[in-house]
Amino acid sequence: MFTILSKEDSVRGALIVGLHEEESINIQDERLKQNVDTYIKRGDVSSTYKQVATLYFAEEGLPEKVYVVGLGARASMTQDRFRKAAGHAFQKVQKDGLEEIAVSLESVRGDMSREEAAELLGESIVTSTYSLPTFKTNKLERPALTKLYVQTDQGGDDLLSFLNKGEAYGRGVNKARDLVHLPANILTSTRMAEYATEMAKEFGMEIDILDKKDMEDLGMGALLAVNQGSAEPPKMIVMKYQGLENWTDVTAFVGKGITYDTGGYSIKTKTGMPGMKGDMGGAAAVLGAMETVGRLQPKKNVIAVIPSTDNMISGDAFKPDDVITSMSGQTIEVLNTDAEGRLALADGVTYAKREGAERIINVATLTGGVVTALGSWMTGAMTNNEAFYKQVQQLGETKGEPIWLLPYNEDYKAQVRKSDIADLNNSPTRKAHAIMGGAFVGAFVGDTPWVHLDIAGTSVAESAHELGPKGPTGVMAKTLSGFLIENS
Ligand code: BES
Ligand code: MN
Ligand code: ZN
Repeated sequence: MFTILSKEDSVRGALIVGLHEEESINIQDERLKQNVDTYIKRGDVSSTYKQVATLYFAEEGLPEKVYVVGLGARASMTQDRFRKAAGHAFQKVQKDGLEEIAVSLESVRGDMSREEAAELLGESIVTSTYSLPTFKTNKLERPALTKLYVQTDQGGDDLLSFLNKGEAYGRGVNKARDLVHLPANILTSTRMAEYATEMAKEFGMEIDILDKKDMEDLGMGALLAVNQGSAEPPKMIVMKYQGLENWTDVTAFVGKGITYDTGGYSIKTKTGMPGMKGDMGGAAAVLGAMETVGRLQPKKNVIAVIPSTDNMISGDAFKPDDVITSMSGQTIEVLNTDAEGRLALADGVTYAKREGAERIINVATLTGGVVTALGSWMTGAMTNNEAFYKQVQQLGETKGEPIWLLPYNEDYKAQVRKSDIADLNNSPTRKAHAIMGGAFVGAFVGDTPWVHLDIAGTSVAESAHELGPKGPTGVMAKTLSGFLIENS
């Protein structure tokens, strides 16, 4: 999908150039530079961040079409602003019906290294031009922007590996989006397990799919309780990627894989239920991250654990007041069957520890409370280890997936332990319920360094944006994979 052009290769089709505030345009081709400068002087081209002007040239030797993207002040550029400006431009190019585009790297990169800018271009062309698959019978086949020429002054060939690295991050994001988008009658736990198996095969990862019998043998009473009312069998998807000599220093990604959440007997309302096909957004982020890890092969060990089932009602379903026993041995009084994600995660976390996890990141569309608290702009987090959290938070920041830490102290810990009949209860009160969800999972983590990420507000976008359409965002796929890739 990528080709490097040297400054001698002239672009005859369409070209993107960048313009920083109060600067002239940084391109080698003198004739093109003069032409564009004329437009700049006339005020037809703006350096305002994310403004795009389209210029046409009929002269021999010039590109037919030049997109001039405003980049704002050079000093205020960040990775995320760069992604969004690039994504915005790529979307415009795709909308114009083009299937390939060239970019003048020197004009867009500002103070960034060529490598960093190339990586961000590779990522953003993949994520920004993504469109959701549909089941429409009369599909409109729109042209897709799938080819990028990168024109640069020097350092040509090794730039390709950075473009590919960016692409690998982007593919992970899009994989997560695909999965969240699929309806629950199609993406059942069984189908998700098959999908993970295909991926493991492609990248040579180890995979183990635990079925209901395995769960019974292991005593996974929490996950099994959620599945109890369903006609669909549960699956625990376990993938291992080993990038180190030995199976040590293992990071676990645990993703909530509820393929549909009706709420169970604590049933959701008719307006609260639609969209709950996306309740496996945590699982999707984990699988998306594994796609990127598979492509980039970091020298790290990771285990992905995805407890998966739907949350349904029937004569067999679990009920409020039931007492269940988790894999850890801790008993749980069920007060609300709609607080099912934490039950599934409890057994997921316990299993990850049994498999040698030395640190755990869990990702889940866990609570409406986090949506109330942070909206769709930041992912809510909890941790038992500030240093580990800081690493994850910083990764999120550079990857454009901002994270905000919620409090977690003895008072909160005590709430999930309030029960007259069991060790824990799964839903103390509506008060601080985003924190209660995390605190419940924390009760199964113990001292293992742990970060909990609640993506209920960030996993689906309410409207189209620079880096994707309305709908699934694929959030946290990059932060998870980046945690391994950027630290190896
Ligand atoms: N899957 C939901 C959380 C959710 C809400 C995700 C909105 C995406 C958008 C979760 O299982 C749930 O139902 N949480 C309850 C917890 C409550 C019963 C303590 C909630 O948030 O209301
Ligand atoms: Mn629920
Ligand atoms: Zn749920």
